[in-house]
Amino acid sequence: MKYSYTTYFAEIYDEVMKNVPYQYWFRYLKDILKYYKCQPNKILELASGTSNMTFNLINLESVNTITALDLSKAMISKAAEKLEYRTLNQKKFEKFNLIKNDDNYQLQNSSRSLKIKFSVQNMIDFSFAEEFDLILSFFDSLNYLTDIDQLQGCFDNAASSLSESGLFIFDMNSIGRIKTIAEKSFMIEGDNYECFWEDIVNEKENLWQVKLKICPDNDQLPCFEEVHSERGYKIKTILRLLKHSGFKAVDVYNAFSFARGKNNSDRLYFVAALDENRLQNNEGQLKKIYYSTKNRIDYFLVSLRYLF
Ligand SMILES: C[S@@+](CC[C@H](N)C(=O)[O-])C[C@H]1O[C@@H](n2cnc3c(N)ncnc32)[C@H](O)[C@@H]1O
Repeated sequence: MKYSYTTYFAEIYDEVMKNVPYQYWFRYLKDILKYYKCQPNKILELASGTSNMTFNLINLESVNTITALDLSKAMISKAAEKLEYRTLNQKKFEKFNLIKNDDNYQLQNSSRSLKIKFSVQNMIDFSFAEEFDLILSFFDSLNYLTDIDQLQGCFDNAASSLSESGLFIFDMNSIGRIKTIAEKSFMIEGDNYECFWEDIVNEKENLWQVKLKICPDNDQLPCFEEVHSERGYKIKTILRLLKHSGFKAVDVYNAFSFARGKNNSDRLYFVAALDENRLQNNEGQLKKIYYSTKNRIDYFLVSLRYLF
């Protein structure tokens, strides 16, 4: 794996991703959790980056501990910096007091006490002393595991860290999307940097690479380059690996709906459980249709926002 998410990119990540509809993703996640009657106390988020989803997870009332794991120390530092800043400056966090203890944070108000822990670890090989009842990963982070053994390692560790009745929910770019990404290059102009972006697709290897060259608006500072690599996997391969790790039930959805995911869906959501009957404990077919329709309309409205 080539080195990526260095300090330079971590610094501009949120600006580059400013159009990513995290809040909408969170609404979809909430519907998945409701559908599967999941009220998690302890959440582990894999490849949490600068914690754009982690901070949404705070809104799940049942949660009392969120552990955010990422390989990049720079991304985790940015996340911790944002948490401290927001607790002091933003309305949403106003109701909480923040107590810091090394890499652990305690958010406290009159009715709730919530721990947020940051952990720099590799998701192919992580371990925790505690178990989680929900493990999550978003924004095609698992596609960064470009070797099948790495993906297996990640699933093995997720299985060992999940409680028996817990859920492992993650999204991935489908193999169909990875193969059909248009090769292009463009420039993103920030307030104090320029970022040259180049998409390269190796259709045969199901591999998408993004080459970034980030140049600060300061002649004294050098430009910095990094490469991001994502591999697409067939659904049946992912299901086989999950099964091998001990996941006995898996539902696969076309993202932002509850329709069955296919290899040519754009983004896929996987819901995996260790207990073979766990996914049958759900709100039923009518609710599934309701959530699916609701999320498709929501998706349409979110897309319109980016057209105009
Ligand atoms: C596209 S970003 C997504 C970040 C975050 N999930 C979000 O939604 O903004 C991919 C993230 O995966 C992390 N990552 C890549 N490979 C990893 C690995 N082997 N273990 C842990 N994190 C990894 C990167 O550091 C980066 O933060």
